[in-house]
Amino acid sequence: MTSADASMTPAGGALLAIETSCDDTSAAVMAADGRLLSSLVHSQDVIHEKYGGVVPEVASRAHVERATVVVREALAEAGVGIDDLGRVAVTVGPGLIGALLIGVHTAKAIAWAHRLPLTPVNHLHGHMAAVWLADPSAPFPMVTLVASGGHTMLVRADDRHTFRLLGQTLDDAAGEAFDKGARLLGLGYPGGKELDQLAERGDPRAFRFPVALKAPGNRDFSFSGVKTSLYYLLRDMSPEARAAHAVDVAASYRAAVVEALVSKLLAAASAERVLTVAVAGGVAANSLLRRRVRAEGEDAGFQAVIPPFGYCTDNAAMIASAAFTRPGLPFPDYLALDAWASLRLEDTGVRPV
Ligand code: KG4
Ligand code: ZN
Repeated sequence: MTSADASMTPAGGALLAIETSCDDTSAAVMAADGRLLSSLVHSQDVIHEKYGGVVPEVASRAHVERATVVVREALAEAGVGIDDLGRVAVTVGPGLIGALLIGVHTAKAIAWAHRLPLTPVNHLHGHMAAVWLADPSAPFPMVTLVASGGHTMLVRADDRHTFRLLGQTLDDAAGEAFDKGARLLGLGYPGGKELDQLAERGDPRAFRFPVALKAPGNRDFSFSGVKTSLYYLLRDMSPEARAAHAVDVAASYRAAVVEALVSKLLAAASAERVLTVAVAGGVAANSLLRRRVRAEGEDAGFQAVIPPFGYCTDNAAMIASAAFTRPGLPFPDYLALDAWASLRLEDTGVRPV
């Protein structure tokens, strides 16, 4: 963070951030000067694996069991006592309502008990803020591709607070396309990472998969067609052929999903005449996406920012980064603060009460 940003932080004390919007229980501590002191993520993947998807009620219960432990560990790792905190921040949406509520109530309880201000954070702003956590000097304006299990959107950022939605998926999210593809291929859960690893060994030109909405200027995405064509391709193969071609199928499928993401990101960045292109969200962990955005983004004259893996998948460090330059609601004004499952990109999470 720059010294100008640090001056926007309330005087004194570290920032504790909490994120529980889906199936990861996360807490992070940021020093008053913007240095990240700790970031902990407790994944629930092993819990949801047997259901083949996140079960909201199960996720909420797991957050209840873990939230205070994860907060305690984040404080201990940062070497920060609860009395050293100057502010608390929490994701208030979008996400699973029960899961969000656990984080919001944990954050409220800590802030209220210690008379601290509380900053509500939009989860999507968090994903965007992973970019400036990774590279505080990346120049604005920028176009960021936010691609996760629940979202796929292109967002223009003119500064750390001014965002405009340029395009988004009309059906499945990119992460969902990877996870459903992985499931059809019989890989693990959630599967995006496993499909990526398998694809690294295959030939991306072996099979043809459709790339939707290719008309110039179209900034939206659609992944239901590519998923359906994978279903029919595998359905018409014998089990032996499926096993023999799995790496090539994975590589070709990944190439089609990534082609849509990269071509639309770069086209939007050119049309918007921005300086930086960035990727965020769990799908930004994809190896092909990372390679292509770095190489093709820089070739096209943009600065390309691709945060480290840990800042791409859901985490509280990005929530701390988003909260850092925003004022907190003063004690006790946030007692009526609620979670909001369908919070939109343009909302900050502060609703009139
Ligand atoms: O941001 P995130 O942790 O949670 C949501 O907000 O959804 O993103 C999780 C998504 C999952 O769909 C997961 O399969 C996908 O990110 N993902 C990947 C990779 N690693 C995680 N997708 C493609 N390639 C990867 N290497
Ligand atoms: Zn997310």
